[in-house]
Amino acid sequence: MTSRILLIISGGIAAYKSLELVRLLRKRGMTVRAVLTQSAQQFVTPLSLGALTENPVFTDLFNLKDEQEIGHIQLSRQADLVVVAPATANILAKMANGIADDLATTLLLATDKPVLAVPAMNVRMWHHRATQRNLERLHADGVHIMTPDDGAMACGEYGTGRLPEPDAIVAEIERLLALPKGFDPLADQPDFAEDAPQFSTSSETNAPLRGKHVLITAGPTHEPIDPVRYIANRSSGKQGFAIAAAAAQAGARVTLVAGPVHLPTPQGVTRIDVETAREMLVAVESALPADAAIMVAAVADWRTADAADQKLKKDGSGQPAPLALVENPDILATLGRHAQRPTLLIGFAAETQKIADHAQAKLARKGADWIVANDVSGDVMGGDANSVQIVTASGIDAWPVMPKSLVAEKLIEKVADALSPHAD
Ligand code: C5P
Repeated sequence: MTSRILLIISGGIAAYKSLELVRLLRKRGMTVRAVLTQSAQQFVTPLSLGALTENPVFTDLFNLKDEQEIGHIQLSRQADLVVVAPATANILAKMANGIADDLATTLLLATDKPVLAVPAMNVRMWHHRATQRNLERLHADGVHIMTPDDGAMACGEYGTGRLPEPDAIVAEIERLLALPKGFDPLADQPDFAEDAPQFSTSSETNAPLRGKHVLITAGPTHEPIDPVRYIANRSSGKQGFAIAAAAAQAGARVTLVAGPVHLPTPQGVTRIDVETAREMLVAVESALPADAAIMVAAVADWRTADAADQKLKKDGSGQPAPLALVENPDILATLGRHAQRPTLLIGFAAETQKIADHAQAKLARKGADWIVANDVSGDVMGGDANSVQIVTASGIDAWPVMPKSLVAEKLIEKVADALSPHAD
């Protein structure tokens, strides 16, 4: 059967990409009905969308003709999937708060169909605590949210906030349409608010972290040298993402603060993308309180004292440009002495020698409860297997080499045990 998409276009510069999105959806045989917010009409016209969708385009809540013919309730229901692309910070805020002050937001409140939001906005707006709070709320409400791409923005800044390419949006739409009919997106997700309706079908045994907030960092950080160069490391983010996935699977509310990596966001995880150690620290502190924090990121120890505004040039003298470095904040150690210190604080230690000795010293220095020491002398960084030892005040538990996904599952089991009320 033909899939029916209700496409809600809100007003951002990325709205022009909705035309390509419609073209691709139509090419795959889907029916598209488009709704434009008032500001979206500054960027794309109902005329061009009407031509591409071969359907009437809706813009007005109080358009009597449309009301008689279809009515906004039906419009919101006669679709298999509602897609908001681009979703501006403004429409996300309205959706998160149940505001229905135009046709687009009224449809979003009236729909009984799954909703996919594809955000696009300025990087600062994306990282703003208010936007992140709204995203968390929407996620808890069962809205599927794509993570925006990194890159140069229309406003001249650089960072996370670009609308994902239409191809990627189509792939996500196809993935959601392929989910079993009657699939309740909420059934898979942790309950965010204490007073949220209990949609979950999981039992306490397979959701041992239900009601807990787990905060995870993953990936490298990039420390700018100038607008085109940066200091980085080989961390792939795979282990941290696997731990985030395992924690969500165990029923936790998961905040994943990710350095620049190209990994898909695990199901049920709220992801905050950052670039530098300082941004990571801000994101981590804003996500507190947490029951457990697992700091897996390979945070750069140093950053340049002053990143140049302009690209550094060779000056012909044969002398390299001086690169003064300063130490980055230690996120793990900051949490170790934080007023809102998580109940369980876990660090990772990538070592190539005297692994357990170094980990033991780090445990004390950083004020962590456990250090997961991993031997990175092989191809652990970027690879799929890991060899770890869990170092705690009471001893060392050496695990055999295993896939990162299994390390993640076992670690989350151990976290759940430690947080359980029966733990001693
Ligand atoms: O000191 P070292 O980098 O070996 O410590 C590793 C642990 O500390 C990891 O858990 C890492 O995520 C964390 N770390 C941090 N902030 C830093 C450096 C490391 O949170 N600036």
